[in-house]
Amino acid sequence: MSDTSAVDYSTRIPNNVDLGSDRQVLRALERWHPGFLDWWMAMGPDGFQDVEVYLRTAVSVDSTGWAKFDYVRMPEYRWGILLAPKEEGRKIPFGRHCGEDPWQEVPGEYRAMLRRLLVIQGDTEPASVEQQRHLGKTAPSLYDMRNVFQVNVEEARHLWAMVYLLHKYFGRDGREEAEALLARRSGSADKPRMLGAFNEATPDWLSFHMFTFFTDRDGKMQLESLAQSGFDPLSRTCRFMLTEEAHHMFVGESGISRTLQRTCEAMRQAGIDDPYDVERVRALGVIDLPTMQRKLNLHYSLSLDLFGSEVSTNAANAFSCSLKGRFQERRIDDDHRLEQATYPVLKLVDGAIERVDQPALTAINMRLRDDYTRDCQRGLDRWNKIIDRIGIAFEFALPHVAFNRRIGEFRDIKTSPDGRIVDDAAWSAGRDKWLPTSQDGDFIQRLMRQVIEPGKFASWIAPPRIGIDNKAGDFEYVKIAA
Ligand SMILES: [Fe+2]
Ligand SMILES: [Fe+2]
Repeated sequence: MSDTSAVDYSTRIPNNVDLGSDRQVLRALERWHPGFLDWWMAMGPDGFQDVEVYLRTAVSVDSTGWAKFDYVRMPEYRWGILLAPKEEGRKIPFGRHCGEDPWQEVPGEYRAMLRRLLVIQGDTEPASVEQQRHLGKTAPSLYDMRNVFQVNVEEARHLWAMVYLLHKYFGRDGREEAEALLARRSGSADKPRMLGAFNEATPDWLSFHMFTFFTDRDGKMQLESLAQSGFDPLSRTCRFMLTEEAHHMFVGESGISRTLQRTCEAMRQAGIDDPYDVERVRALGVIDLPTMQRKLNLHYSLSLDLFGSEVSTNAANAFSCSLKGRFQERRIDDDHRLEQATYPVLKLVDGAIERVDQPALTAINMRLRDDYTRDCQRGLDRWNKIIDRIGIAFEFALPHVAFNRRIGEFRDIKTSPDGRIVDDAAWSAGRDKWLPTSQDGDFIQRLMRQVIEPGKFASWIAPPRIGIDNKAGDFEYVKIAA
């Protein structure tokens, strides 16, 4: 197929990579497919495999009009293999191969490193489906229920995307890795997913929206860096995944916006000005803002851990070998090789948090994390504007990057959200103000009641301003009775 924006739906696996004439890879994927479906039935949305959901399916990789909406039963979703069109004249934009033509095959010397990058990315995709599998039962509306299912089928498609690359370019060990991606389980003691945040529970919808805002945004940053890759098939795969990823972050950001909007409006109506008057706010059936801040603290700090150590030779190697670049690499005004450059890194120096210049190559993770923090902050600014407009005196703030960390420079210290290093006693005293408590969890759980009447919403969340695919407010996004 020469026109790479057209998607072939004639094979069981929709694709724009001409799978039909790639018999060996097609057969390998067809052998993997039943195991994938078993995984989806066992670990996908619990209790909703038979209902019809108004989902978008990718039918083209054109930047305009790539998706088509229709009712689909999730196990019948057309998970496809879709790469963004080949960019004519593309050159590798960074690393020691900067300026060279990108590779269409895996360079032998980078095989192991590249496989590792694919597997780590691939592992996060099914993990989040597993984490979110119970949310349908407490969906605050059909609109929200449809959104979590949309995110789930697309994360499963992202798994397909990585598995295709493993099968196509990595032979037998690629096939073994593809099997292992179906065998690990989020939160499992003996076969956990590879990264910490993907083994945490997503027990309620506030967690889900925080997860899609913060953790899917880590995904966006990773995909942006991999989209720069000298390995062209990976670059093209990630570029298309990013178009889907945007919706996941929309679900998170708008989910939180609607939640805090509802809280602030209910407070106004009840004449409550003090956001810390928690009992009275909770009695209104909405989630108080300090609890939302604690949830934010948790999800942000868990997501920061996903960037790995601030100073990392692995990250330096992946950059030097032109496998994984930086966020918006081509817009950065430097030599894109970084052999002489430095970058300021936050480090623990003699018991104090200080900014220290490090070789920019080893600080690649730190830089990506800084870009991520800026991206998060823009979302918080938009949330704060809504709170301000409704007239409540409260502002969300990102905690300090040293707060509540398990990985990197700050894993062995305790700090307050504003970045003061504290001893164990101060941590114990502050902890319940800084991170969600079990009482917070119990309270949120009590609000989580499924609402399935079209156009109706649970007490704690405002309706969206516009529907998915411009549908009317009472559109039946999920046909529960079907
Ligand atoms: Fe994804
Ligand atoms: Fe995502």
